[in-house]
Amino acid sequence: MAALDERDDILGRARVRDNDDLRAYYDDLAGMETGALWTVANDIEPWEPNPSSAPVIWRSRDLRAQVLRSLELVRPEDAGRRVVYLRNPRRREVSAACGWLFSGIQVMRPGEAASAHRHAASALRFIMEGAGAYTVVDGHRIDLGARDFVLTPGGCWHEHGVAEGGEVSMWQDGLDIPLTNALEANFYEVHPDNFQSSNLPPNDSPATYGGPGLLPENDGWAKPYSPLLVYRWGPTREALENYARVTDGSPHDGVLLRYANPKTGGHVMTTMGAAMQMLRPGEATRAHRHTGNVIYQVAEGRGHSIIGGVRFDWQEKDIFCVPAWTWHEHANASGSDPAFLFSFNDFPVMEKLGYWREQALEENGGHQAVTANG
Ligand SMILES: [Fe+2]
Ligand SMILES: [Fe+2]
Repeated sequence: MAALDERDDILGRARVRDNDDLRAYYDDLAGMETGALWTVANDIEPWEPNPSSAPVIWRSRDLRAQVLRSLELVRPEDAGRRVVYLRNPRRREVSAACGWLFSGIQVMRPGEAASAHRHAASALRFIMEGAGAYTVVDGHRIDLGARDFVLTPGGCWHEHGVAEGGEVSMWQDGLDIPLTNALEANFYEVHPDNFQSSNLPPNDSPATYGGPGLLPENDGWAKPYSPLLVYRWGPTREALENYARVTDGSPHDGVLLRYANPKTGGHVMTTMGAAMQMLRPGEATRAHRHTGNVIYQVAEGRGHSIIGGVRFDWQEKDIFCVPAWTWHEHANASGSDPAFLFSFNDFPVMEKLGYWREQALEENGGHQAVTANG
């Protein structure tokens, strides 16, 4: 039995000491596929969440060349998707980047097209670079540019490509595959015709739902995810600049806007949410922690985040993660320019299950002691 946490040596926690009679009893129970709860109770009922993931940064200066290298090594029609996935060193067994979230970097060259498929898991993408990239979601074609955010909700047919005459394009994928697998609810299908055919006009989703505060009447949309399938960078950045002029922002996140389902105001998909936040010039936030996992990509600027006491310096296109219930704070390194952080998370799951919890760091003016550099 593991050594008792000193806080566990109290009435109300399991604090039974081993002896020969008990060890014999545990052996007999184990032979019947049973066990004494008090031998595991304190582990399976921790005082507070004990995240299984490490805080990690994946720096673009190290990773970008390796992602480009895959262009020479595999074809999308053989790989299915040409993706280098981000593996948390403590979540290798479930191929997660953080908690129950998967992430990877996908690269395609002009003229390439990856065939259509669908899965129960939901997906999102944040475009990192390139031109001419597109995705088709249930027949809705969406043309994509740098820093656009696009949805491929669970159950939707989807395919990606880069138009002839475009540029090599790269984007970050975010999926809830580990969660869906943990819940043993994932399905995967290849499209019977390999590619979708559709008579819908290109970019009909943003043309219909992309007007700020404006919705079509009687559109009949009843699906559990946002009908706006793409959130473009230009209006997103402008919205943050406007909001920054009239708000003090959050002490923990600076100026943050959540990507919202325009029909409900809620999260964009059932299992994953996403946000874009602006750290004003010179801004350093105070630390907080909360349930739910978050994966960030630096959309613009440079700075650092302190996550669980470890300082991670970042710049554009770097990706880093904040595990559940881990203290974190962010700082913009520039005194003259804003920094922008894209992020996605599993907050909808936490909220729907009633598990959302948040705490501000009170000590030391809300700042962590830095114990290491990551
Ligand atoms: Fe997919
Ligand atoms: Fe946070």
